[in-house]
Amino acid sequence: MARAVLLPVALLLLCLALAGGADAERKPVGFYELKNKKGDFSIKVTNWGATLVSVLVPDCKGNMADVILGYDTLAEYVNGTASFGATVGRVANRIANSRFVLDGKPYRLFRNDGNNSIHGGHRGFSKVIWTVKEHVLDGDSPYITFFYHSFDGEQGFPGDLDLYVTYQLSSPYDLSIRMNATATTKATPVNLVNHGYWNLAGHGSGDVLRHELQILASRYTPLDATKIPTGQVAPVAGTIYDFLKPTPVGEHMEVVSGGGGGYDINFAVDGQQDALRQVARVEDPKSGRGMEVWANQPGVQLYTSNWLINEKGKGGKVYGQYGALCLETQAYPDAVNHPEFPSSIVRPGGQGYKHDMTIKFYY
Ligand SMILES: *[C@@H]1O[C@H](CO)[C@@H](O)[C@H](O)[C@H]1NC(C)=O
Ligand SMILES: *[C@@H]1O[C@H](CO)[C@@H](O)[C@H](O)[C@H]1NC(C)=O
Ligand SMILES: *[C@@H]1O[C@H](CO)[C@@H](O)[C@H](O)[C@H]1NC(C)=O
Repeated sequence: MARAVLLPVALLLLCLALAGGADAERKPVGFYELKNKKGDFSIKVTNWGATLVSVLVPDCKGNMADVILGYDTLAEYVNGTASFGATVGRVANRIANSRFVLDGKPYRLFRNDGNNSIHGGHRGFSKVIWTVKEHVLDGDSPYITFFYHSFDGEQGFPGDLDLYVTYQLSSPYDLSIRMNATATTKATPVNLVNHGYWNLAGHGSGDVLRHELQILASRYTPLDATKIPTGQVAPVAGTIYDFLKPTPVGEHMEVVSGGGGGYDINFAVDGQQDALRQVARVEDPKSGRGMEVWANQPGVQLYTSNWLINEKGKGGKVYGQYGALCLETQAYPDAVNHPEFPSSIVRPGGQGYKHDMTIKFYY
């Protein structure tokens, strides 16, 4: 008994000590709830990894469900490896051979995915404590803003970077996630994603293979054997990646190759790449709950929770393979090593990085 209580406390102290390294000041970790006026739409977030912890939305009968996977405690977030709901960076997704050259200078990153680097390294932005800048937790458009200063050389990346992530609710059931980053000393690649694991029937309710998925992308970026884009941007027509019309997620699941089986692939979203536009739509036919994903990014990663195996989540639920899908709006993977892809480089004095996404829930 005593041990079960002590463990989370020990982990909490550990993470506070880790975070103290750069700026000695100790930052508390908290959970915050944002709720609409009517009380039928709310989210929980934490400044650990600027993470989205829960999203409660109704269906047409007024039944509420929490439609995102996550954990109950900070200790589990500190320990977890799935990036549930987290803000992932400095560069989400993979960088080939954990290296790149920028302005003639070579940089080396941690290898944490075979020879590649993934999700910003061992301790990316999803594993650090952000500062709560401001929050309005209720009213018409409740919001919360997190801030993080990333230092020059952090996880191998060049230059200082100031980051903000804002979560905001608006009427009727819109959740917007706005991320920005400003490089202050050197040019650097930046690719932040929100790594929400969605299940519109409710987290822990089984797999999402019957969810109807539409992705507004006529092309995708094929991968080599190490899951790095080949550089091609190929048409989805006639492939298992064609989700232009609403299609059950599991339609081609038995033939999706690689990894644990299932999708883990970037789509080149149609339309003007830096304009806020609809990227995808997902609907659970049983409850009728749906979500549209809008964003101003060139790509979106579809990941079907291929590696979730008996993961203990919120409220005693257990998450298994295909227990959710992720739609991570993003720059193309490994863009820093692919001059032919839309650029992911942010420069001091330049335009800065601005990633807006809105998730519009409906029933
Ligand atoms: C930490 O993660 C491991 C492996 O995923 C798991 O077995 C263990 O129960 C976790 N511990 C906590 C405190 O969540
Ligand atoms: C890593 O790179 C080395 C050298 O190129 C190669 O021999 C090895 O097979 C690679 N490992 C993986 C897991 O791809
Ligand atoms: C980034 O977001 C924060 C919080 O909303 C805002 O105060 C700041 O002006 C934004 N920075 C840029 C460069 O857009």
